[in-house]
Amino acid sequence: AAAEKGGYPTFMEKEIHDQPHAVADTLLGRTDDAGRLVLDEVRISEEQLRAVERITIVACGTAAYAGMVAKYAIEHWTRIPVEVSLAHEFRYCDPIVDGTTLVVSISQSGETMDTLMAVKHAAELGAMTLSICNTHGSTIPRESDAVLYTHAGPEIAVASTKAFLAQITASYVLGLYLAQLRGETYADDAKSVMAELQGIPDKIDELLGRMDRVVEMASFMADTRSVLFLGRNVGYPVAMEGALKLKELAYIHAEGFAAGELKHGPIALIDAGQPVFIVVPSPEAPHELHKKVVSNIQEIRARGARTIVIAHDGDDDVEPFANEVIRIPNCSPMLAPLLAVVPLQVFALHLSTAKGLDVDQPRNLAKSVTVE
Ligand code: G6P
Repeated sequence: AAAEKGGYPTFMEKEIHDQPHAVADTLLGRTDDAGRLVLDEVRISEEQLRAVERITIVACGTAAYAGMVAKYAIEHWTRIPVEVSLAHEFRYCDPIVDGTTLVVSISQSGETMDTLMAVKHAAELGAMTLSICNTHGSTIPRESDAVLYTHAGPEIAVASTKAFLAQITASYVLGLYLAQLRGETYADDAKSVMAELQGIPDKIDELLGRMDRVVEMASFMADTRSVLFLGRNVGYPVAMEGALKLKELAYIHAEGFAAGELKHGPIALIDAGQPVFIVVPSPEAPHELHKKVVSNIQEIRARGARTIVIAHDGDDDVEPFANEVIRIPNCSPMLAPLLAVVPLQVFALHLSTAKGLDVDQPRNLAKSVTVE
Protein backbone atom coordinates (compact mmCIF):
# COMPACT_ATOMS: atom_id res chain seq x y z
CA ALA A 1 0.00 0.00 0.00
CA ALA A 2 2.88 2.38 0.78
CA ALA A 3 4.18 1.87 -2.75
CA GLU A 4 0.75 2.57 -4.25
CA LYS A 5 0.80 5.88 -2.45
CA GLY A 6 4.10 6.74 -4.13
CA GLY A 7 5.80 7.44 -0.81
CA TYR A 8 3.06 9.82 0.39
CA PRO A 9 1.19 9.10 3.64
CA THR A 10 -2.23 9.20 1.94
CA PHE A 11 -3.70 8.66 -1.51
CA MET A 12 -5.04 12.17 -1.46
CA GLU A 13 -1.62 13.69 -0.93
CA LYS A 14 -0.27 11.55 -3.76
CA GLU A 15 -3.14 12.56 -6.01
CA ILE A 16 -2.63 16.25 -5.27
CA HIS A 17 0.97 15.80 -6.34
CA ASP A 18 -0.13 13.89 -9.45
CA GLN A 19 -1.96 16.99 -10.69
CA PRO A 20 0.71 18.32 -13.05
CA HIS A 21 0.56 14.94 -14.82
CA ALA A 22 -3.23 14.83 -14.76
CA VAL A 23 -3.37 18.13 -16.63
CA ALA A 24 -0.49 17.31 -19.00
CA ASP A 25 -1.91 13.88 -19.88
CA THR A 26 -5.37 15.29 -20.48
CA LEU A 27 -3.83 17.68 -23.02
CA LEU A 28 -1.86 14.96 -24.77
CA GLY A 29 -2.74 14.11 -28.36
CA ARG A 30 -5.42 16.76 -28.63
CA THR A 31 -4.38 18.08 -32.04
CA ASP A 32 -4.35 16.31 -35.41
CA ASP A 33 -1.73 16.75 -38.16
CA ALA A 34 -3.49 19.87 -39.37
CA GLY A 35 -3.25 21.43 -35.91
CA ARG A 36 -6.98 21.02 -35.29
CA LEU A 37 -8.31 19.96 -31.90
CA VAL A 38 -9.78 16.46 -31.60
CA LEU A 39 -12.07 14.60 -29.20
CA ASP A 40 -11.66 10.90 -28.32
CA GLU A 41 -14.81 9.28 -29.60
CA VAL A 42 -17.30 11.22 -31.66
CA ARG A 43 -20.50 9.71 -32.93
CA ILE A 44 -21.94 13.11 -33.76
CA SER A 45 -21.22 14.77 -37.09
CA GLU A 46 -19.26 18.02 -37.23
CA GLU A 47 -22.28 19.50 -38.95
CA GLN A 48 -24.48 18.63 -35.97
CA LEU A 49 -21.92 20.01 -33.55
CA ARG A 50 -21.72 23.21 -35.56
CA ALA A 51 -25.47 23.56 -35.17
CA VAL A 52 -25.43 23.37 -31.36
CA GLU A 53 -27.57 26.19 -30.02
CA ARG A 54 -27.24 25.57 -26.32
CA ILE A 55 -25.22 23.47 -23.94
CA THR A 56 -26.36 22.01 -20.64
CA ILE A 57 -23.74 20.57 -18.32
CA VAL A 58 -24.89 17.86 -15.91
CA ALA A 59 -22.75 16.63 -13.02
CA CYS A 60 -22.65 16.17 -9.24
CA GLY A 61 -20.29 17.26 -6.50
CA THR A 62 -16.83 18.36 -7.49
CA ALA A 63 -17.56 17.59 -11.14
CA ALA A 64 -20.40 20.14 -11.03
CA TYR A 65 -17.91 22.81 -9.92
CA ALA A 66 -15.71 21.88 -12.87
CA GLY A 67 -18.91 22.39 -14.89
CA MET A 68 -19.27 25.92 -13.52
CA VAL A 69 -15.74 26.75 -14.67
CA ALA A 70 -16.61 25.18 -18.03
CA LYS A 71 -19.58 27.50 -18.40
CA TYR A 72 -17.43 30.62 -18.17
CA ALA A 73 -14.86 29.23 -20.60
CA ILE A 74 -17.20 27.75 -23.20
CA GLU A 75 -19.47 30.79 -23.30
CA HIS A 76 -16.46 33.09 -23.61
CA TRP A 77 -14.87 31.18 -26.46
CA THR A 78 -17.93 30.01 -28.39
CA ARG A 79 -20.75 32.42 -27.48
CA ILE A 80 -22.99 29.36 -27.09
CA PRO A 81 -25.24 29.73 -24.02
CA VAL A 82 -24.25 27.20 -21.34
CA GLU A 83 -26.28 26.17 -18.33
CA VAL A 84 -24.98 24.05 -15.47
CA SER A 85 -27.47 21.71 -13.87
CA LEU A 86 -26.93 19.35 -10.95
CA ALA A 87 -27.72 16.00 -12.53
CA HIS A 88 -30.35 15.04 -9.94
CA GLU A 89 -32.14 18.36 -10.49
CA PHE A 90 -31.92 18.25 -14.26
CA ARG A 91 -33.94 15.11 -14.68
CA TYR A 92 -36.97 16.26 -12.79
CA CYS A 93 -37.16 19.91 -13.79
CA ASP A 94 -38.78 19.40 -17.18
CA PRO A 95 -35.55 20.49 -18.87
CA ILE A 96 -35.64 22.47 -22.10
CA VAL A 97 -33.66 20.21 -24.36
CA ASP A 98 -33.98 19.34 -28.05
CA GLY A 99 -31.95 18.18 -31.04
CA THR A 100 -29.86 21.36 -31.04
CA THR A 101 -28.84 20.97 -27.40
CA LEU A 102 -25.53 19.42 -26.43
CA VAL A 103 -25.73 17.87 -22.99
CA VAL A 104 -22.25 17.55 -21.52
CA SER A 105 -21.86 15.27 -18.53
CA ILE A 106 -18.81 15.46 -16.30
CA SER A 107 -17.97 12.47 -14.11
CA GLN A 108 -14.77 11.00 -12.71
CA SER A 109 -16.17 7.50 -12.24
CA GLY A 110 -18.57 7.40 -15.16
CA GLU A 111 -20.92 5.50 -12.86
CA THR A 112 -22.69 8.17 -10.80
CA MET A 113 -26.33 7.15 -11.03
CA ASP A 114 -27.76 10.68 -10.94
CA THR A 115 -25.49 11.75 -13.80
CA LEU A 116 -26.17 8.61 -15.82
CA MET A 117 -29.92 9.11 -15.47
CA ALA A 118 -29.60 12.72 -16.58
CA VAL A 119 -27.68 11.63 -19.68
CA LYS A 120 -30.28 8.99 -20.53
CA HIS A 121 -33.07 11.48 -20.03
CA ALA A 122 -31.33 14.00 -22.29
CA ALA A 123 -30.89 11.36 -25.00
CA GLU A 124 -34.58 10.46 -24.78
CA LEU A 125 -35.40 14.11 -25.35
CA GLY A 126 -33.30 14.04 -28.52
CA ALA A 127 -30.21 15.91 -27.28
CA MET A 128 -26.67 15.15 -28.38
CA THR A 129 -24.69 13.87 -25.40
CA LEU A 130 -21.01 14.25 -24.68
CA SER A 131 -19.20 12.72 -21.72
CA ILE A 132 -16.12 14.15 -20.00
CA CYS A 133 -15.00 11.15 -17.99
CA ASN A 134 -11.95 9.71 -16.25
CA THR A 135 -12.83 6.02 -16.47
CA HIS A 136 -12.43 4.19 -19.78
CA GLY A 137 -15.32 1.96 -20.72
CA SER A 138 -17.53 3.07 -17.82
CA THR A 139 -21.28 3.41 -18.24
CA ILE A 140 -21.70 7.14 -18.88
CA PRO A 141 -19.25 7.36 -21.83
CA ARG A 142 -20.77 4.19 -23.28
CA GLU A 143 -24.20 5.82 -23.15
CA SER A 144 -22.97 9.06 -24.75
CA ASP A 145 -22.64 10.17 -28.38
CA ALA A 146 -19.18 11.61 -27.87
CA VAL A 147 -16.42 11.26 -25.27
CA LEU A 148 -13.53 13.38 -24.10
CA TYR A 149 -11.49 11.40 -21.60
CA THR A 150 -9.64 13.06 -18.75
CA HIS A 151 -6.38 11.23 -18.21
CA ALA A 152 -5.93 11.79 -14.50
CA GLY A 153 -5.28 8.11 -13.83
CA PRO A 154 -7.16 6.17 -11.14
CA GLU A 155 -8.33 8.38 -8.29
CA ILE A 156 -8.53 6.44 -5.01
CA ALA A 157 -9.12 9.07 -2.31
CA VAL A 158 -12.85 9.67 -1.93
CA ALA A 159 -12.49 13.44 -2.17
CA SER A 160 -11.69 14.40 -5.75
CA THR A 161 -8.58 16.44 -6.55
CA LYS A 162 -6.67 15.50 -9.69
CA ALA A 163 -9.86 14.48 -11.48
CA PHE A 164 -11.16 18.02 -10.88
CA LEU A 165 -8.15 19.63 -12.53
CA ALA A 166 -8.40 17.18 -15.41
CA GLN A 167 -12.12 17.93 -15.81
CA ILE A 168 -11.45 21.66 -16.00
CA THR A 169 -8.67 21.04 -18.52
CA ALA A 170 -10.96 18.87 -20.66
CA SER A 171 -13.67 21.54 -20.49
CA TYR A 172 -11.24 24.11 -21.87
CA VAL A 173 -10.33 21.72 -24.69
CA LEU A 174 -14.02 21.20 -25.45
CA GLY A 175 -14.66 24.95 -25.51
CA LEU A 176 -11.74 25.56 -27.83
CA TYR A 177 -12.75 22.61 -30.02
CA LEU A 178 -16.27 23.97 -30.44
CA ALA A 179 -14.91 27.46 -31.07
CA GLN A 180 -12.61 26.15 -33.77
CA LEU A 181 -15.41 24.14 -35.34
CA ARG A 182 -17.66 27.17 -35.51
CA GLY A 183 -15.40 29.71 -37.12
CA GLU A 184 -11.97 30.92 -38.02
CA THR A 185 -12.26 33.96 -35.77
CA TYR A 186 -11.66 31.83 -32.75
CA ALA A 187 -8.98 29.56 -34.22
CA ASP A 188 -5.98 31.73 -33.30
CA ASP A 189 -7.33 32.18 -29.85
CA ALA A 190 -7.57 28.38 -29.49
CA LYS A 191 -3.91 27.97 -30.41
CA SER A 192 -2.64 30.49 -27.93
CA VAL A 193 -4.80 29.13 -25.11
CA MET A 194 -3.64 25.58 -25.87
CA ALA A 195 -0.06 26.81 -25.79
CA GLU A 196 -0.60 28.44 -22.43
CA LEU A 197 -2.34 25.33 -21.09
CA GLN A 198 0.74 23.28 -21.97
CA GLY A 199 2.70 25.41 -19.52
CA ILE A 200 0.26 25.00 -16.63
CA PRO A 201 1.61 21.64 -15.33
CA ASP A 202 5.00 23.25 -14.55
CA LYS A 203 3.24 26.06 -12.73
CA ILE A 204 1.24 23.59 -10.62
CA ASP A 205 4.49 21.87 -9.82
CA GLU A 206 6.07 25.13 -8.76
CA LEU A 207 3.00 25.97 -6.67
CA LEU A 208 3.11 22.60 -4.89
CA GLY A 209 6.62 23.50 -3.82
CA ARG A 210 5.34 26.61 -2.05
CA MET A 211 2.80 25.05 0.29
CA ASP A 212 4.74 25.22 3.57
CA ARG A 213 2.80 28.14 4.99
CA VAL A 214 -0.55 26.61 3.94
CA VAL A 215 0.34 23.38 5.76
CA GLU A 216 1.41 25.35 8.82
CA MET A 217 -1.80 27.39 8.83
CA ALA A 218 -3.91 24.24 8.61
CA SER A 219 -2.08 22.71 11.55
CA PHE A 220 -2.97 25.74 13.71
CA MET A 221 -6.63 25.74 12.66
CA ALA A 222 -7.80 22.34 13.93
CA ASP A 223 -10.28 24.02 16.30
CA THR A 224 -11.85 26.21 13.65
CA ARG A 225 -15.63 25.85 13.51
CA SER A 226 -16.45 27.66 10.31
CA VAL A 227 -14.59 28.89 7.24
CA LEU A 228 -15.89 31.02 4.39
CA PHE A 229 -14.63 31.12 0.81
CA LEU A 230 -15.17 33.95 -1.64
CA GLY A 231 -14.49 34.07 -5.35
CA ARG A 232 -15.71 35.81 -8.44
CA ASN A 233 -16.10 34.76 -12.07
CA VAL A 234 -14.03 31.56 -12.51
CA GLY A 235 -12.87 32.02 -8.92
CA TYR A 236 -16.45 31.47 -7.71
CA PRO A 237 -16.52 27.71 -8.43
CA VAL A 238 -13.01 27.53 -6.96
CA ALA A 239 -14.41 29.00 -3.72
CA MET A 240 -17.26 26.48 -3.81
CA GLU A 241 -14.82 23.62 -4.30
CA GLY A 242 -12.58 24.90 -1.48
CA ALA A 243 -15.58 24.85 0.86
CA LEU A 244 -16.63 21.38 -0.31
CA LYS A 245 -13.15 19.96 0.31
CA LEU A 246 -13.21 21.30 3.86
CA LYS A 247 -16.65 19.82 4.58
CA GLU A 248 -15.70 16.46 3.11
CA LEU A 249 -12.29 16.12 4.71
CA ALA A 250 -12.32 18.08 7.94
CA TYR A 251 -16.07 18.05 8.79
CA ILE A 252 -15.94 21.80 9.25
CA HIS A 253 -18.82 24.04 8.33
CA ALA A 254 -17.70 25.83 5.21
CA GLU A 255 -19.48 27.92 2.63
CA GLY A 256 -18.45 29.28 -0.71
CA PHE A 257 -19.92 32.53 -2.03
CA ALA A 258 -19.72 34.67 -5.10
CA ALA A 259 -17.77 37.67 -3.81
CA GLY A 260 -20.30 40.14 -5.23
CA GLU A 261 -23.01 38.47 -3.17
CA LEU A 262 -21.24 39.32 0.09
CA LYS A 263 -23.09 42.58 0.65
CA HIS A 264 -26.43 40.86 -0.04
CA GLY A 265 -26.26 38.70 3.05
CA PRO A 266 -23.14 36.73 3.92
CA ILE A 267 -21.34 39.79 5.27
CA ALA A 268 -23.58 39.46 8.33
CA LEU A 269 -21.63 36.30 9.19
CA ILE A 270 -18.38 38.21 9.54
CA ASP A 271 -17.22 38.82 13.06
CA ALA A 272 -13.88 39.00 14.82
CA GLY A 273 -11.53 36.23 13.82
CA GLN A 274 -13.78 34.60 11.20
CA PRO A 275 -11.43 32.96 8.69
CA VAL A 276 -12.26 33.87 5.09
CA PHE A 277 -10.39 32.63 2.05
CA ILE A 278 -10.60 35.00 -0.90
CA VAL A 279 -9.71 33.85 -4.39
CA VAL A 280 -8.55 37.05 -6.07
CA PRO A 281 -8.90 37.39 -9.87
CA SER A 282 -5.82 38.17 -11.89
CA PRO A 283 -5.10 41.92 -12.09
CA GLU A 284 -5.62 41.39 -15.84
CA ALA A 285 -9.19 40.11 -15.42
CA PRO A 286 -11.75 42.18 -17.33
CA HIS A 287 -14.28 44.62 -15.86
CA GLU A 288 -12.06 45.66 -12.96
CA LEU A 289 -12.95 42.43 -11.18
CA HIS A 290 -9.62 42.47 -9.40
CA LYS A 291 -10.26 45.89 -7.89
CA LYS A 292 -13.77 44.86 -6.85
CA VAL A 293 -12.59 41.77 -5.03
CA VAL A 294 -9.78 43.70 -3.33
CA SER A 295 -12.42 46.08 -2.00
CA ASN A 296 -14.39 43.06 -0.69
CA ILE A 297 -11.29 42.00 1.23
CA GLN A 298 -11.00 45.48 2.65
CA GLU A 299 -14.65 45.40 3.77
CA ILE A 300 -14.44 42.13 5.62
CA ARG A 301 -11.07 42.89 7.13
CA ALA A 302 -12.56 46.10 8.54
CA ARG A 303 -15.16 43.89 10.26
CA GLY A 304 -12.52 41.78 11.92
CA ALA A 305 -12.32 38.80 9.53
CA ARG A 306 -9.08 36.88 9.27
CA THR A 307 -8.42 37.24 5.54
CA ILE A 308 -6.50 34.50 3.78
CA VAL A 309 -5.94 35.74 0.27
CA ILE A 310 -5.05 33.70 -2.79
CA ALA A 311 -3.42 36.10 -5.23
CA HIS A 312 -1.17 36.03 -8.26
CA ASP A 313 2.54 36.65 -7.96
CA GLY A 314 3.29 40.35 -7.91
CA ASP A 315 -0.25 41.43 -7.00
CA ASP A 316 0.70 43.90 -4.27
CA ASP A 317 -2.75 45.50 -3.99
CA VAL A 318 -3.93 42.74 -1.66
CA GLU A 319 -1.16 43.18 0.90
CA PRO A 320 -2.68 45.94 3.06
CA PHE A 321 -5.87 43.92 3.72
CA ALA A 322 -4.55 40.39 3.96
CA ASN A 323 -3.68 38.51 7.12
CA GLU A 324 -2.12 35.86 4.93
CA VAL A 325 -1.25 35.89 1.25
CA ILE A 326 -0.92 32.64 -0.65
CA ARG A 327 0.77 33.27 -3.99
CA ILE A 328 0.00 31.48 -7.22
CA PRO A 329 2.03 31.76 -10.45
CA ASN A 330 0.72 34.17 -13.07
CA CYS A 331 -1.55 32.95 -15.85
CA SER A 332 -4.41 34.36 -17.89
CA PRO A 333 -7.61 34.94 -15.93
CA MET A 334 -9.57 32.08 -17.52
CA LEU A 335 -7.00 29.41 -16.61
CA ALA A 336 -6.50 30.50 -12.99
CA PRO A 337 -8.78 27.82 -11.44
CA LEU A 338 -6.15 25.19 -12.31
CA LEU A 339 -3.81 26.96 -9.90
CA ALA A 340 -6.04 28.70 -7.36
CA VAL A 341 -7.75 25.52 -6.16
CA VAL A 342 -4.49 23.76 -5.28
CA PRO A 343 -3.79 25.59 -1.99
CA LEU A 344 -7.41 24.99 -0.95
CA GLN A 345 -7.01 21.24 -1.51
CA VAL A 346 -3.75 21.24 0.45
CA PHE A 347 -5.36 23.24 3.25
CA ALA A 348 -8.29 20.81 3.59
CA LEU A 349 -5.99 17.81 3.49
CA HIS A 350 -3.78 19.13 6.28
CA LEU A 351 -6.64 20.37 8.41
CA SER A 352 -8.10 16.87 8.22
CA THR A 353 -4.74 15.43 9.23
CA ALA A 354 -4.43 17.93 12.08
CA LYS A 355 -7.79 16.71 13.38
CA GLY A 356 -6.61 13.11 13.20
CA LEU A 357 -9.23 12.16 10.58
CA ASP A 358 -9.12 9.62 7.79
CA VAL A 359 -8.17 11.73 4.78
CA ASP A 360 -8.76 9.07 2.15
CA GLN A 361 -12.02 7.71 3.53
CA PRO A 362 -14.07 10.48 5.11
CA ARG A 363 -17.12 9.39 7.07
CA ASN A 364 -20.45 8.89 5.28
CA LEU A 365 -19.07 9.44 1.78
CA ALA A 366 -18.62 7.08 -1.16
CA LYS A 367 -16.21 7.51 -4.03
CA SER A 368 -18.89 6.74 -6.51
CA VAL A 369 -22.58 7.02 -5.69
CA THR A 370 -24.32 4.39 -7.77
CA VAL A 371 -27.76 4.81 -6.28
CA GLU A 372 -30.25 7.58 -6.90
C1 G6P B 1 -19.28 11.45 -4.96
C2 G6P B 1 -17.83 11.76 -4.56
C3 G6P B 1 -17.45 13.17 -5.02
C4 G6P B 1 -17.70 13.32 -6.51
C5 G6P B 1 -19.14 12.99 -6.88
C6 G6P B 1 -19.32 12.87 -8.38
O1 G6P B 1 -20.16 12.20 -4.19
O2 G6P B 1 -17.67 11.63 -3.16
O3 G6P B 1 -16.07 13.40 -4.75
O4 G6P B 1 -17.40 14.64 -6.90
O5 G6P B 1 -19.51 11.72 -6.35
O6 G6P B 1 -18.61 11.75 -8.83
P1 G6P B 1 -18.24 11.49 -10.32
O7 G6P B 1 -17.57 10.14 -10.33
O8 G6P B 1 -19.53 11.48 -11.10
O9 G6P B 1 -17.34 12.58 -10.77
